[in-house]
Amino acid sequence: MAEAGLCIAIDGPAASGKGTVARLVARRLGYRYLDTGAMYRATALAAREQGVSWSDADGVAAVARQLRFDFRWSGTGLDVLVDGRDRTRQLRAQDVGEGASAVAVHPPVRAALVALQQAMAQDGGVVMDGRDIGTVVMPDAPLKVFLTASAEERARRRWRELSDRGTRVPFGQIVAELEARDHQDSHRKAGPLRQAGDAVVVDTTGLSAEQAAARVIGIALERGARLPDHP
Ligand code: CDP
Repeated sequence: MAEAGLCIAIDGPAASGKGTVARLVARRLGYRYLDTGAMYRATALAAREQGVSWSDADGVAAVARQLRFDFRWSGTGLDVLVDGRDRTRQLRAQDVGEGASAVAVHPPVRAALVALQQAMAQDGGVVMDGRDIGTVVMPDAPLKVFLTASAEERARRRWRELSDRGTRVPFGQIVAELEARDHQDSHRKAGPLRQAGDAVVVDTTGLSAEQAAARVIGIALERGARLPDHP
């Protein structure tokens, strides 16, 4: 296991920078990266395309069980392939994020995706980000990080992410959407957003993604991770 590398769990609220930081950490350590939010997003998108209502727990779980995921590094970051098709752009749309949060409340949907995530973590050397990674998916991970940032900073980041992709949404609407999603994610019964008791909290307010990633990498090295010979 020491050869394969650590399992690193990164959890936190929407737009806290989890994905960017997790990607940077994985690249630097030469680990695999798994974006579990993309799996909930892909499930919501596939359900909509197949005419299955997001409130239909068993119907959506059946959709989730049929999906095949591949994650590939690309020049701009990470591409998400669902059933062999590149869905990276569609998955980041605002309404798909809301759909992800809606389907993520259902225990059978979570059971299907958590099983897949645990299988992917089995060999170590992986960075996974989400809401329940340190608490449910990898409760024995030797490094758990809880990323936070002020609500205003998170709204600014989401606004920038959307406007970079040509979507102009009023700032107030973004704040309201983030608040609603965080409330739903923290208050659901199954796999709520919760900080693991042994998680290290990293507040990224005022930090660049590189600075936040450097902190996580520093802790990973203290806990036994090794930098690859040829990064
Ligand atoms: O990027 P952002 O933080 O907006 O969201 P995401 O990580 O892509 O996750 C989208 C939604 O999927 C979240 O609002 C959660 O409801 C759900 N999710 C979850 O329930 N469990 C996870 N491990 C990851 C995401």
